[in-house]
Amino acid sequence: MTAMTDTSGILASDTELVRKHLAAVTMSQPLSDVEAEVCKARIKQLLAEKNAVLVAHYYTDSLLQALAEETGGLVSDSLEMARFGRDSAATTLVVAGVRFMGETACILSPDKTVLIPTLDATCSLDVACPADEFGAFCDAHPDRLVVVYANTSAAVKARADWVVTSSIAVDVVEHLAAQGKKIIWAPDRHLGSYIQSRTGADMLLWNGACIVHEEFKAKGLLDLRAVYPDAAILAHPESPASVLAIADVIGSTTQIIRAATQLPQTHFIVATDKGIFYKLQQLAPDKTFIIAPTAGHDATCRSCAHCPWMAMNSLQRLLESLETGSNRVSVPRALSERAMVPLQRMLDFASSKQLKATGRA
Ligand code: 13P
Ligand code: SF4
Repeated sequence: MTAMTDTSGILASDTELVRKHLAAVTMSQPLSDVEAEVCKARIKQLLAEKNAVLVAHYYTDSLLQALAEETGGLVSDSLEMARFGRDSAATTLVVAGVRFMGETACILSPDKTVLIPTLDATCSLDVACPADEFGAFCDAHPDRLVVVYANTSAAVKARADWVVTSSIAVDVVEHLAAQGKKIIWAPDRHLGSYIQSRTGADMLLWNGACIVHEEFKAKGLLDLRAVYPDAAILAHPESPASVLAIADVIGSTTQIIRAATQLPQTHFIVATDKGIFYKLQQLAPDKTFIIAPTAGHDATCRSCAHCPWMAMNSLQRLLESLETGSNRVSVPRALSERAMVPLQRMLDFASSKQLKATGRA
């Protein structure tokens, strides 16, 4: 296992590309309750008029998640959002999430209109894996299969043999390793290391990281567990290895929610974006959820467990996009067709193994 470049110890948010995108993050003004109600009513009207459906990621604002549920849309993880959009009778998909989710929706539903509240909502993993550099890296290692995370651009997906989500990554790599395949993995180095440790696969890792999960710290987590000794720690595999080493459950967003509802514990320390608390509290109202620390010893709380790009999704931006048709996501048809191949491979693998590649909790 080799990292592509030696930037260990540098937060993903320190890279120039990520900094540039973070500088473009602008938040909408908070709305009063009355303004929010007016905005929601207008969005509901436009969704109906335009035969549109709202699909929201677990990390978005609870107002948007609730609105998706109230209007017959969906709150889920990234790929289930796209699958739901593909299977929906709606002709317009409004994706509350980040850009790669809008692109995946376009790839799976090439004949539908896909809108996103803001095209500036990206992801540090996507940003840190430019398609040209990644393509050159793959070209330099032609003996390796290319497996990429869903958190990538359509162009990176088009270069891949497989696309995976965090809920199915271990199964796919295990399957490939059993055939003696050597692998290039991109972009998340923490998720890559985790998959490598679970499967023993020969993996060459790209050096990306999620600016949210990278900030969870083992020391703070251990201190917190001393306060709540009976709590289970639930961690997303984009977290650093030191955090995963003390987690009771490691899983994707949907797997974290399922664990919280199914495990007997009453208290959970959660190492993922705190937007997920809306669903956790909805599905397990009698349980207590505590966000894993991103402050204290060795931590910076720069994103404070909330993705700055997910946070760009607001009622106002959603309304504007629906009203004007702005922020339409598009993927050129030829690129989309190429990206569909590794995506479809994952979906077929999931159904052949009767695994849920992703899901809704
Ligand atoms: P999911 O694929 O589990 O929805 O996660 C997406 C993500 O951005 C995690 O940080
Ligand atoms: Fe990307 Fe991390 Fe935000 Fe998820 S939480 S969209 S991985 S930056």
